[in-house]
Amino acid sequence: MIIRPARPSDRETVVSFSARIWDGYDYLPRVWDQWLAEAGGAFLVAELNGQPVGTDKITVLAPGEVWLEGLRVDPHHRGKGIARALSREAIQNVRQLRPSSVRFSTVVDNQTSRHMGEEAGFRFLFPCRRLIGEVRNGDLPEDVLGKLADVDEMLVFLHRSAVFQRMKGLFAWGWIFKRLDRPFLEQIVGEGNALLARSRGKINGLALFQGQRHGPKAALGFIDGAEETAVTLADQFRIVAQRRGFRELLSMVPESSASVLLAAGFRLEEPTSVVVYELSGERLQRTLQAGEI
Ligand SMILES: CC(C)(COP(=O)(O)OP(=O)(O)OC[C@H]1O[C@@H](n2cnc3c(N)ncnc32)[C@H](O)[C@@H]1OP(=O)(O)O)[C@@H](O)C(=O)NCCC(=O)NCCS
Repeated sequence: MIIRPARPSDRETVVSFSARIWDGYDYLPRVWDQWLAEAGGAFLVAELNGQPVGTDKITVLAPGEVWLEGLRVDPHHRGKGIARALSREAIQNVRQLRPSSVRFSTVVDNQTSRHMGEEAGFRFLFPCRRLIGEVRNGDLPEDVLGKLADVDEMLVFLHRSAVFQRMKGLFAWGWIFKRLDRPFLEQIVGEGNALLARSRGKINGLALFQGQRHGPKAALGFIDGAEETAVTLADQFRIVAQRRGFRELLSMVPESSASVLLAAGFRLEEPTSVVVYELSGERLQRTLQAGEI
């Protein structure tokens, strides 16, 4: 078996085994072209007897912030150590990136993924519920969209938010979880993707969304506020997304925010429970030295 960079000619075989993963719901075929073209990181293929039998993707979300995704093995070739081999090669690539954090998400009952991550030193960060929603027509208050001038106050709100703490300061960007720092918040606000509510002039609710990185949906990546305020913001998100041309909505949020979204007409979507893992600090250094991830 060899591990090498993915090539355009691998597409057909990878797409055909990916169709046998998760009953055909694997998103890999949709992102194939973007992943091949993406700079930074790496897109790896495991080849056995001249045929692609596995993939792994290392994505750089921001300098020093690495995301692992796209680990797949042909169902006919499972249990032969192919995912292990891909992961060993991935670490060589990750090492060159000198990251301060490496993360991945998976469904709660994916024992193989969780076992491999935990063995490599990844720490469980938090669980999330997965919901989908529909856009709708409606009216919006004039001042619902946050402006760049509000960013400082939004950061104060975020740092006091119990939801933000539960999410360890990350934004749920579809299946990707990215650090919600000032530059990313400014990007979100600059694109008109921040909805805020105020009471007596002070922010008392905030909802942030982004178009999926490689997909057509709008992803609500953070929402918090006093109960009714948060439900109103979630509903207003449906209207803003409609105006922005999105047709489908998706969100990964902690249990406490899931009830808010359910009250605003969202519904749980299978797989409903997702877990997020992180490798950082001393554990990251140890894993990078040991050569396995
Ligand atoms: C997850 C997946 C990539 C594993 O591929 P694989 O080539 O069969 O995995 P390997 O043979 O390299 O085994 C990897 C490790 O998982 C362990 N493992 C396998 N099944 C397991 C289970 N049900 N519970 C716990 N550990 C398990 C193996 O023992 C091995 O660990 P070890 O080296 O410590 O013994 C493959 O099952 C797959 O493509 N699944 C669908 C897509 C997916 O879930 N991707 C990852 C999450 S996004």
